[in-house]
Amino acid sequence: MTSTFESVADVVERFAAQGYIADRRLATTVYLLCRLGKPVLLEGPAGVGKTEMSKALANATGRRLLRLQCYEGQDESRALYDWDYGKQLLYTQMLREKIGEIVADAPDLATAVTRIGDQDSVFFSDRFLAPRPVLEAIRSTEPTVLLVDEIDRADEALEAVLLECLAEYQVSVPEIGTYTASVLPYVVLTSNSTRDLSAALKRRCLHLFLDYPDAERELEIVRSKHTGLPDALAVQLVGVVRELRGLGLRKNPGISETVDWARALAVLGAEELDAQLLAETVNVVLKYERDLQRALEVLPRLALGQHDDDRYEHPPFEDEPDGRAVRAAMDQPGRHEIGYRLPADAGERPRSGAGQGQRAFSAAVRRRTRQQR
Ligand SMILES: Nc1ncnc2c1ncn2[C@@H]1O[C@H](COP(=O)(O)OP(=O)(O)O)[C@@H](O)[C@H]1O
Ligand SMILES: [Mg+2]
Repeated sequence: MTSTFESVADVVERFAAQGYIADRRLATTVYLLCRLGKPVLLEGPAGVGKTEMSKALANATGRRLLRLQCYEGQDESRALYDWDYGKQLLYTQMLREKIGEIVADAPDLATAVTRIGDQDSVFFSDRFLAPRPVLEAIRSTEPTVLLVDEIDRADEALEAVLLECLAEYQVSVPEIGTYTASVLPYVVLTSNSTRDLSAALKRRCLHLFLDYPDAERELEIVRSKHTGLPDALAVQLVGVVRELRGLGLRKNPGISETVDWARALAVLGAEELDAQLLAETVNVVLKYERDLQRALEVLPRLALGQHDDDRYEHPPFEDEPDGRAVRAAMDQPGRHEIGYRLPADAGERPRSGAGQGQRAFSAAVRRRTRQQR
């Protein structure tokens, strides 16, 4: 398998071989990602194939996929690297005698502590480093695809840290030094747009808004999944799903829901899509009661092929979150050590310019102390 793509058409073809139907715009972005070595940022609603795209990219290029799933409250020790506390403690226990020798003739506690401190570098070395996906991708000597999935769930501070690493393809570990990628990973970031991302991140990336596919491509995807649903019904079903997406529902059905619905109908042996059958199975794709109610009102018309007349009649639900507000609320100060605002719990944490190593190590000690209480 050749690892780079020869052309945009080559991307389309090799993605299709992996079961991923890419349109020209997406394929062009992927081609540029590989050629320019720039990260790609895919934004769009849930279920349009953002995560799947990275898997297809990894498979099509024979690269190993490293995935960082973002979540609220995540910090660098989950994203970049951490220290293997367990191993550090095991080593200190096994080396107890040796450590005893070092401090044996220390006249006082302060001297003993200094002597132990002089040995820090042994315990904050490569041997005790626990790389997380970002550092793993940077250090890997074999080519990788790094997927930073749903970055909008993480907060702004982690976003900035990631940006810094991805801009230079570097991760700095204060106790060891800076790791620089020898083989550039293909980096894909995804966002479900629950909040705005920073302009800096967008500038740094090839940005692509991935929306629901057009009817033709969605049908192609459904066909490619061999759902067992007769083709004429698949055509009709794709039309129905597209109409549902126009209703301003709280959670629009994604591509996987269309495929699931097709599979469900096939299992039920559907021969035609009448209003009753659609109503009996629409819960496969809609997961909120009020979405369901809304859909049930219009399904009789959709089943008759009367599309469009009901579109946008209802305004979207009003509790749609405002991206900026959500982002501001998530960005609590103090969850990141380096260069960010002082934490609310400053009293509890070791601050004095502590590098990640000390932070992680003392966190482990704190955990142990708590457990022993
Ligand atoms: N272009 C596509 N070609 C084939 N299958 C797709 C495509 N887009 C989405 N899918 C299907 O939809 C599912 C959901 O896609 P996913 O990547 O999880 O969505 P997202 O990450 O955007 O929420 C995938 O598991 C895949 O089966
Ligand atoms: Mg996803």
